Amino acid sequence: MTASLRLPPGYRLLDYDELDSTNDEAKRLGADGAPAGCVVWAKSQPNGRGRRGRRWDGPPGNLYMSLLLRPAHSPAAAAQLGFVAALAVGEACAPFLPEATKPRYKWPNDVLVSGRKVSGILLESSALPDGMLDWLVVGIGINVASHPAGTEFPATSLAASGGTATVTQLLESTVARYHHWMGRWEAAGFEAIREAWLSNAIGVGGKVTVRLERQVLEGRFADLDRDGALLLETDEGNRRVLAGDVFPVAAS
Ligand code: BTN
Repeated sequence: MTASLRLPPGYRLLDYDELDSTNDEAKRLGADGAPAGCVVWAKSQPNGRGRRGRRWDGPPGNLYMSLLLRPAHSPAAAAQLGFVAALAVGEACAPFLPEATKPRYKWPNDVLVSGRKVSGILLESSALPDGMLDWLVVGIGINVASHPAGTEFPATSLAASGGTATVTQLLESTVARYHHWMGRWEAAGFEAIREAWLSNAIGVGGKVTVRLERQVLEGRFADLDRDGALLLETDEGNRRVLAGDVFPVAAS
């Protein structure tokens, strides 16, 4: 165990040298009735999972963690907590990066540095028979020392961006900033999160390509709605997109 990490009250660290996927472990804990606030951390993760069935490489040197939460909300509200997590990651990384390289957000939950993806977030949840959330797992990967090559959207790491953080520093500050923004979400609702995210987002107001499971849409990223959905203006009409990958189109 790594006993010396400082986490906010109510969070408990469960650390491992290796787990197939920290999300899988956190889901098991959720189904077994473990309390909210478990922070599952693995130093390597050979079978890490990304969004939309993709892999997430897990060599040692990067951060792989999953928060187990039990928000008394509907599953629709869970999507909003992905934006809470993105803000937490961006703010955790910022102090360790050169001043000119500020983290930016790309819909829905990616964190970019110098236009490349440094962090991804995977939300998984289970609902109770009454329709409310039983548990929610917020899986966070941050490329600290290395990043994959040949990804659909270009990747980077903090090290490659001139950053100097250790994995444990990032873990501590990500949980601390998550705690902060979760408190804002509970007190003030999604609007406070939405505003903070929009003030540092890329692609909003501009032309984007949105890859859905079976379709590619093109249009203007008009706004982020009150639930976190992407509002897209296309030639065929307006679309409200709940899940997909966004690729900003460079202005010609
Ligand atoms: C994405 O596709 O952008 C989401 C990537 C999420 C990766 C993290 S690493 C920790 C947690 N465990 C997993 O298996 N995936 C998430």
